[in-house]
Amino acid sequence: MKTIAVLTSGGDGPGLNPCIRAVVRRAVKKGLEVYGVRRGYSGLIGGDIISLNSRDVSGILGRGGTFLGTARCPEFKDIKVRRTALRHLNQRSIEGLIVIGGNGSLTGALELDKMGYPVIGIPASIDNDVNETDIAVGVDTTLNTILESIDRIKDTATSHQRAFLVEVMGRDCGYLALQSGIAGGAELVLVPEREGPPMEQIADEVVNAYVEGKSHCIIVIAEGWKPGTRAVEDYLKKRADLGFDVRVTVLGHVQRGGRPSVFDRTLGSRMGAYAVDALLQGETGKMVALRSSKLTLVPLADAVRTLKPLDPEMLELADMLE
Ligand code: F6P
Repeated sequence: MKTIAVLTSGGDGPGLNPCIRAVVRRAVKKGLEVYGVRRGYSGLIGGDIISLNSRDVSGILGRGGTFLGTARCPEFKDIKVRRTALRHLNQRSIEGLIVIGGNGSLTGALELDKMGYPVIGIPASIDNDVNETDIAVGVDTTLNTILESIDRIKDTATSHQRAFLVEVMGRDCGYLALQSGIAGGAELVLVPEREGPPMEQIADEVVNAYVEGKSHCIIVIAEGWKPGTRAVEDYLKKRADLGFDVRVTVLGHVQRGGRPSVFDRTLGSRMGAYAVDALLQGETGKMVALRSSKLTLVPLADAVRTLKPLDPEMLELADMLE
């Protein structure tokens, strides 16, 4: 193999730039020619592919987002579209691809592998919903961003004796809500993986916090939890017996930006270099995974088969600490 390409796809997150940088630098050191695909699979379909050398990735290590750009690309599910993508790769004699992204992006990578094209995936999703790896690139920084926000909210909540509903990202997965709820001392955590509780019980948590003499009540809600943050707000605002006034903070995309933490810079760098070595060893259809601090390769098919379930021990811990 003499030429490879790298792309970032799906939702961005901190740590993508260190990962791209490590791919480029490891590949250059191994004597490979490297290309970067702009805007994920959308750029691949459009042939938006640029040559990269070690200097092109200087100065990006500490920056959030992805300097290659990214996109959501549902069209990539269509085999005709994927054929166009392969055509662009083959026209430039690119012999292998490294895909950095979450479940949807890694599913796209698996489809390319099934079409006979060498591909290695790197898990990068702030939601930490990719199976077979302890953690994905971007999760650590995002959790720290959320935690800083919860700490700030607690300052004002305590000053005013208020209850806060804090909505965090996670369309289908409550990992961010669960971990930040535990680390942020939330009174209640609501995640899509667990139904309920009924509104009356949520209100009881607020009342209990008040009666116990707490100075605030923090409820962390994952974006994907149903019936949703607004429904809780509407219900609680109709109750005059809570003790606390209720306010809502939706953290939104502030969670996805920012300088990557030490952990994400290191993880992204390790995984990027490992992915290049894997391609050079003739591996394909695999994802780089972190397991008990060691990197390994797992089949992409196993990684994307389901969303990673929440750890029941963590759920129990959150309930116990309420
Ligand atoms: O996939 C990660 C994620 O941050 C989800 O938690 C969130 O629901 C979604 O992306 C938001 O995506 P977009 O930026 O495309 O609206």
